[in-house]
Amino acid sequence: MKRSIGCGRLSLDDLDKEVCVAGWVNVRRDLGGLIFLELRDRSGRLQLVADPNKNKDVHEKFVTLRNEFVIIARGKITRRPEGTEKPDQPTGMIELYPDEMELLNTSRPLPFQLELGQQVDESLRLKYRYLDLRRREMQRNLILRSRVTIAIRKYLDENDFLDVETPILTKATPEGARDFLVPSRLTPGSWYALPQSPQLFKQTLMVSGLERYYQVARCFRDEDLRADRQPEFTQVDIEMSFINEEDIFEISEGLLQRAFKEADVDIKGPFPRLTYKEVMDRFGSDKPDLRFEMEIKDLTEVAKTCEFRAFKETVAAGGVLKALCLKGMAEKSSRKDLDGWQEVAKGFGAKALAWLTFKSEGVKSSGIDKFFKPEEIEQMRQLAGAETGDIVLLVADTYKVVTNVLGRLRLKLAEDLGLIDESKHALLWVVDFPVFEWNEDENRLEAVHHPFTSPRLEDLENFDTQPELARARAYDCVYNGCEIGGGSIRIHSKDVQSKVFSKIGLTEETAREKFGFLLDALDSGAPPHGGIAFGLDRLVMLLAGCKSIRDVIAFPKTQSGACLLTDAPSAAPDEQLKELQLKHEAPKQPAKVTADKS
Ligand code: AMO
Repeated sequence: MKRSIGCGRLSLDDLDKEVCVAGWVNVRRDLGGLIFLELRDRSGRLQLVADPNKNKDVHEKFVTLRNEFVIIARGKITRRPEGTEKPDQPTGMIELYPDEMELLNTSRPLPFQLELGQQVDESLRLKYRYLDLRRREMQRNLILRSRVTIAIRKYLDENDFLDVETPILTKATPEGARDFLVPSRLTPGSWYALPQSPQLFKQTLMVSGLERYYQVARCFRDEDLRADRQPEFTQVDIEMSFINEEDIFEISEGLLQRAFKEADVDIKGPFPRLTYKEVMDRFGSDKPDLRFEMEIKDLTEVAKTCEFRAFKETVAAGGVLKALCLKGMAEKSSRKDLDGWQEVAKGFGAKALAWLTFKSEGVKSSGIDKFFKPEEIEQMRQLAGAETGDIVLLVADTYKVVTNVLGRLRLKLAEDLGLIDESKHALLWVVDFPVFEWNEDENRLEAVHHPFTSPRLEDLENFDTQPELARARAYDCVYNGCEIGGGSIRIHSKDVQSKVFSKIGLTEETAREKFGFLLDALDSGAPPHGGIAFGLDRLVMLLAGCKSIRDVIAFPKTQSGACLLTDAPSAAPDEQLKELQLKHEAPKQPAKVTADKS
């Protein structure tokens, strides 16, 4: 017997057709006489029935079957008897009484029931990933991932991009994470770094005149993991020559349109563009979720003149007073809710959270209203955009603290109060990031994106004296509050590149040692160029409606970077270490690897 068709491809159109199906026993119900069996393959499920009066041999075989046994069966497709149809299921109108059935393989009892799915402890799912991936939901995710990837490849191919592979064993590429290192056997004491991204190679390819490059590229970053981060992940990596930001936006919007289409979502460009300053001011985040409003409002001017010392002194010291307005929540929220939000804000780093409720019977507050004149309360109400029935939550502190606290509180409140419109697809570009930010721990400037990002030309004038004011020609693409892509127009002048290296504290010698080849390439007829990389895993995660990136990666790692299926990372045999001229200390008690809780 040889399989002729997938279970899920059959329908009423196939009545009386002789078919041969193969797959896994999903469920088996023995009714004493008839035995019903749901056969599952990648395409779907089909009901097989064995009747001892019709085919004794097949029935006897059905008696011995257990869940997850692998079988192949041949027979004619028949219509289910009236009253037993399940029209809501894809093959719910038909069934198959096999004339012949063969057992292809048995299965030991499973460590978890497949249908329990997400309820099963994730470490168990990861350890037995081959079983977890049998689940329809997981297969749907991988199918979507494959379709999105193909759609993107097709689109880029149609737009004249060349798919070029770049090395995995390479030199460090700075993207802000730690490198994974691989020892060299042939040059003992030397190490390759796995690429954090193909950044330097794609720029080099532009110098080579390839003009339009893309790669579905594996990247490696040794950083703390979260629900939307993995130590190895995939980027759709793009670079173009003789272009500006507009070209990147246009290509990217077209690419996303095609990717979203695979998830049956129609999106339209151009996406809104907001500056970094604007998103930080209005949403307290450089990846704002625009599916709901609740913008941060500035009330600093009231704090300047008011009698409330905590506000007045904070603002006098250069701080700000900002607020969130919770629409229509004054009557619905209890004192306990307000106290709870105060604790949340403190958890985010606020010293305190003050509140005002505007009810029809008057204004109530967290004890602050007595320090304000009625006209000041009115001014605060207006500045916060509040009306009767609303709550205003206030934080005074440095700009950085207030922005961070209110940005996070905005998201938390929206989630808790169900303010997010899940049917919306809010895409935007964030532009005009600063080139540098101050690294307090290391007491030096560091690149906000990577150090190959071009400053805006007009900001180069004061670059030497006020580098922290320089804006970058960088852009992030944000979807429903998640950064799905980022890139920039690059520096193509060796002098500007050297200048940026020196601002982030790289001596000429170190810059040469690390990136000498790039500096030389830039000095060899580098065209103006720029690009972007989209996080494929994140994009598919959002399109599939998953909460974790691990659900769209076939073999992901846990939060501690472990692959529970293969038990990687693991100790290396002594001979191998010797060959690499490596010594290691006696291993500590191997850490017990568990799944992420994030
Ligand atoms: P960046 O570091 O912003 O840019 O990465 C681009 C996109 O990759 C995704 N991403 C990740 N996804 C999963 N796990 C991770 N650990 C992870 N880190 C990043 C994000 C992010 O937006 N070379 C530049 C691109 C360029 O300038 O062209 C770069 O790598 O979705």
